[in-house]
Amino acid sequence: MLETLTIRTQRTTASRLEHLDPEHIEFGKIFSDHMFVVDYRDGEWQEPQLLPYGDMTVSPANSALHYGQAIFEGMKAYKNASGDIALFRPLDNLHRLNASAERMCMPQLPEELFMQGLTQLIRLDSEWVPNSPGSALYIRPFMYATDGFIGVRPSESYRFVIFTCPVGLYYNKPLRVRFEEKYVRSAEGGAGFAKNAGNYGAAMYPTKLAQQEGYNQLIWTDASEHRYVEESGTMNAIFVIDGKVVTPALSSSILDGITRRSVLQLARDWGMQVEERKVSAVEVMQALADGKLEEAFGVGTAATIAPIAVIGYQGHDHELPKPAADAFSLRVSEALQAIRTGQAADGHGWMVTV
Ligand code: COI
Repeated sequence: MLETLTIRTQRTTASRLEHLDPEHIEFGKIFSDHMFVVDYRDGEWQEPQLLPYGDMTVSPANSALHYGQAIFEGMKAYKNASGDIALFRPLDNLHRLNASAERMCMPQLPEELFMQGLTQLIRLDSEWVPNSPGSALYIRPFMYATDGFIGVRPSESYRFVIFTCPVGLYYNKPLRVRFEEKYVRSAEGGAGFAKNAGNYGAAMYPTKLAQQEGYNQLIWTDASEHRYVEESGTMNAIFVIDGKVVTPALSSSILDGITRRSVLQLARDWGMQVEERKVSAVEVMQALADGKLEEAFGVGTAATIAPIAVIGYQGHDHELPKPAADAFSLRVSEALQAIRTGQAADGHGWMVTV
């Protein structure tokens, strides 16, 4: 158990919990009662606070709004059958947040501040953690520049916030995706490995075009040749080809997904061959044509495991075989859910009780 840091707390006088219908939770629409807030100025983190969830004001010259110095994380907490709440791999999120912060010239967040803010916020809003099948408390830590200055340079002041929202499924059916061969999400040497706001904003236009064509998401390809798979929408992409688990190797343009890491670990635990390497669109389409592409799916915190049903490539749609009852994506999804909700042993020490 962490030593307790005293965090000044202002409790809400108007809880919105009664508006939560645990059986019908839409992703990202209803937010828990409180948020954790801490400001950075004069070279140090100031006094942290737990406040009622609500609007925050910024200067019109706020440099995050103009130049995009803003980063975020996505993580989840789960309730087990006895009502205990646990976080999934929270320190992995902190390490990635700090990697994003370094890339965006933002301050590092100390572990104690992050973990104390997170755990005390979740304890305060523990009744918001749902326990219906497939649900979780989605946690959104983020940091943004707060200088009111329109010169282009790293801000000198920042705000770090965590808010949470109970969530159900992100996608409710298998996805239709298509290879993107014109636009790119990120290039080698860019900031694709970081979770900075601009990566997501810039992806919206190509995604909108694909959605107008009837796809849910894109499979991003590399910036120099448009040959190799990068990610799928806002998720990492994993394929099962001829019994092997195959996924693009990490690079400066690919997000180091925590669900990706966990899925690959379980595959290795189960004795499967895992290949982290370049995966070309041609290889995927050839494997499909040869009957060797057994599964394709996206993995991410919000979506967890999102099976792909159709891949569009060069103007043609290709249907993937329906996953078998013992498909890897189904087994790994169930195994992860069992670890998260305390129904299976947590052999890797991924869960941190709140
Ligand atoms: C996540 O999976 O947590 C993400 O960050 C994806 C998205 C909701 C932005």
